[in-house]
Amino acid sequence: MAGDPGAAIGVPAETPVDDDVLARRHEVLAEVQEHYYAAPPRIERGWREHLIDVNGRVYLDMVNNVASVGHAHPRVVEAGSRQMHLLNTNSRFHYRAITDYADRIAATLPEGFDTVFFVNSGSEATDLAIRLAMAATGRPDIVAMREAYHGWTYASDAVSTSIADNPHALSTRPDWVHTVDAANSYRGKHRGADAEKYAPEAVAVIDELAASGRPPAGMIAETYFGNAGGVALPEGYLGAVYAAIRRHGGLAIADEVQVGYGRLGEWFWGFQQQGAVPDIVAVAKSIGGGHPLGAVVTRREIADRYRTGGYFFSSTGGSPVSSVIGMAVLDVIEQEGLQENARVVGAHLKRRLEELGKKHDLIGTVHGSGLYLGVEFVRDRETLEPATTETAAICDRLLELGVIMQPTGDHQNVLKIKPPLVVTRASVDVFVDALDRVLTTGY
Ligand SMILES: Cc1ncc(COP(=O)(O)O)c(C=O)c1O
Repeated sequence: MAGDPGAAIGVPAETPVDDDVLARRHEVLAEVQEHYYAAPPRIERGWREHLIDVNGRVYLDMVNNVASVGHAHPRVVEAGSRQMHLLNTNSRFHYRAITDYADRIAATLPEGFDTVFFVNSGSEATDLAIRLAMAATGRPDIVAMREAYHGWTYASDAVSTSIADNPHALSTRPDWVHTVDAANSYRGKHRGADAEKYAPEAVAVIDELAASGRPPAGMIAETYFGNAGGVALPEGYLGAVYAAIRRHGGLAIADEVQVGYGRLGEWFWGFQQQGAVPDIVAVAKSIGGGHPLGAVVTRREIADRYRTGGYFFSSTGGSPVSSVIGMAVLDVIEQEGLQENARVVGAHLKRRLEELGKKHDLIGTVHGSGLYLGVEFVRDRETLEPATTETAAICDRLLELGVIMQPTGDHQNVLKIKPPLVVTRASVDVFVDALDRVLTTGY
C-alpha cells in the first residue's frame, strides 16, 4: 500500500483528488489556451523524464522537449535559485552573465555567427528573425514552407500555415507571405525519390517573386520538419533554397526551436543535417530547460541593420537569471553527454518502433532522428489515409498506462516523440512496450 504522496510532491497532505482546479482553470483561462487531454491528471512534480500527479502516480514523459535536460535538474535549479538570491534585472544593466552566455551560445554555431539577441520564447525569436531579415534587406516579402508552425505573435503567426493550429491558415495570409510546398517525402505532393522535386519548385517560387519585382527579404523554414512529426527534409533541400534566396539578396532563416540543441543526436543543429548554413538562427524551448528563454543568432552586419527598422529591447530576454539558467542547461548537455544520449537511445528507440511497425499495420512509418521521432498512423499503407481518431484514442490509452504522448501533424495522426534528453534506454523500452500493448489489446 502506498502512503500519502503529498510530502513527496510538495502539496498538502491528503489533497482531495476530485478538486475543482480544472473547472476553475476553464473559468479563468482563455478557452484557446488549451490543455492536454479531456481529463488530465493534475501534475505537480517532475523528475528527469518523469511526471508525478497529485495521487503520487508516476508518468513517463515522452513529449516534453521544453524540459530538455529533464524535469527539476538540480544543476539548473541551483543556478537559477542562486542567481535569484543575488540579482535579477532587465537586460539593459551591465552584468557578466549575459555576455558569457552569448559567447557560449555563439560558440555552438559555425564561424560568423557572432551576434546574439535574447528574447523569451520561440515566437519572439522567429518574429525577431523575420523582422531582422526585413530590416537588413529593406524588403517586406518572406517565403515560408507550408504546414509549419513558427509561433503566435503577428509575424511568426503570419508565416505559420499548419491547418492543425489554424484551419483557415492558408487562405488568411497577409500579402507579404509567400509559401512553398511542405517538403514532406512521406505524404506530400512528391513522395520517396520524387521528393527531390521540392527544392527546384521552391527555387522557382523564389525566382518568380524576384522576377515580378518582389525579391524576398528571406525564407523561413524548420531545418527538420517538426510539425509533420520529425520528417527529414529531402537531401540538399536547404542548400538549394538558401542559395536561391541569397542569389536575390535575401537571407536564410533557420527555425531551430524544436530540433536544435542536440536533440537530433547526430547533429547539434538541424541545418547541419542538411549540410547548409543559414544567415539567421532562431532558437528557444530547449535552451532554457523550461525557463522562458529564446535567442536569435546572426552575423554582426545583419544585426546592425536592425536599427533601420526601429528599436529593440526585451526586458527579461537574457536577464541574469535567464542567462545563468541558459549556461547551466548548456553545461548539462555537454557534461552529461546528452547529444550522445539522444543519438544512442534515440537509435535504439527508432529501431524498436520500426520493429513494432512489422507487427502493427496501423504504423505507416517512423520518422525522425535522435530523440525527435514521429510514429505516423495510417488506415492504409497505400492510400496513407490518416488514422486521426485512432491516434487520439491511442494517446488516451497510453495515459492510462502511464505514458504521456500527444499527436502532431496537419492530420493529428503522428505521435510526437521528443522526451527530455536524459531519457534512458529502460524508459524508452517502457514506452515501446506500452505502445505495443495498446496496439495489441485495443484502444
Ligand atoms: C518550430 C517552432 N517554432 C516556434 C515555436 C514557438 O515557440 P514558443 O511556443 O516558445 O513561442 C514553436 C512552438 O511550438 C515551434 O514548434
